[in-house]
Amino acid sequence: MSTTYTIDTATSRANPTPAPMKRMTVPAIRARKQNGVTAEPLVMLTAYTVRMAQLLDPHCDILLVGDSLGQVIYGLPSTVPVSMEMMAAHGAAVTRGSWHSLVVIDMPFGSYEASPEQAFLSAARLLKETGAAAVKLEGGQAMAATIAFLSARGIPVMAHVGLTPQAVNALGGYGARGRSEAEAGKIMADATAVAEAGCFAMVIEGVLEPIATAITAAVACPTIGIGASAECDGQVLVVDDMLGMFDRVPRFVKKYDELGQRIAETAGRYAADVRARTFPTADQTYRAKG
Ligand code: KIV
Repeated sequence: MSTTYTIDTATSRANPTPAPMKRMTVPAIRARKQNGVTAEPLVMLTAYTVRMAQLLDPHCDILLVGDSLGQVIYGLPSTVPVSMEMMAAHGAAVTRGSWHSLVVIDMPFGSYEASPEQAFLSAARLLKETGAAAVKLEGGQAMAATIAFLSARGIPVMAHVGLTPQAVNALGGYGARGRSEAEAGKIMADATAVAEAGCFAMVIEGVLEPIATAITAAVACPTIGIGASAECDGQVLVVDDMLGMFDRVPRFVKKYDELGQRIAETAGRYAADVRARTFPTADQTYRAKG
């Protein structure tokens, strides 16, 4: 049976789908860290489309529908213009393409900062329209009351501290955070505040490594690093960065492939065939039957 959140196997091109299985849950992710120790680090990648979700799902604990889709998919200059509609459409696609991973969806800029009530309405809409199990939001002490409000009302929250890209206009860029003692102290206080407010996990992005290790040692919930430290309880990367779809990536990215280059070369081979009229061949054209 097909629903909004599962693929219709009779019509979808994105087949075969894996056999349905029990998804990772928020309590299972939270429980990965026991008494400050995470024996098996959490694996998280961003995903924005159904086919990519299918390919990543068997390897990940968490698929993040990141608002980085603004830059990665839509070519926007930052995550600031990303809308609820964009998040909802891509979130539903990722849920459709996955069976195993916990799907976490970013709350876009402007959808949660005004009040806990605004955050609840936005988060509830995203969970209803996408089938995701949790939301992620950026911010530290200023967001603690909102995280407590959502958590108490059945909406699990992943926090995001350190370099918070939605605040690019206030921060003035995407440089690593925590270079001054005051800033390092503020990031530490942010992390403690969101942990005490009840986030089930937190992303630590773009901070000096000792800050990430200190936060990981200090908070009970798992930390997921990006440009942070291998000591974090898990790691996340933007999938297109990791696959080498872009020439320019942040310093903290490890490119595991050069997919951008390979796609360009493949498109070149297709273009050459079309121009030489060597595609399509008999295999790719229809003939009368019998
Ligand atoms: O939007 C995003 O992809 C993110 C990750 C980089 C953590 O927030």
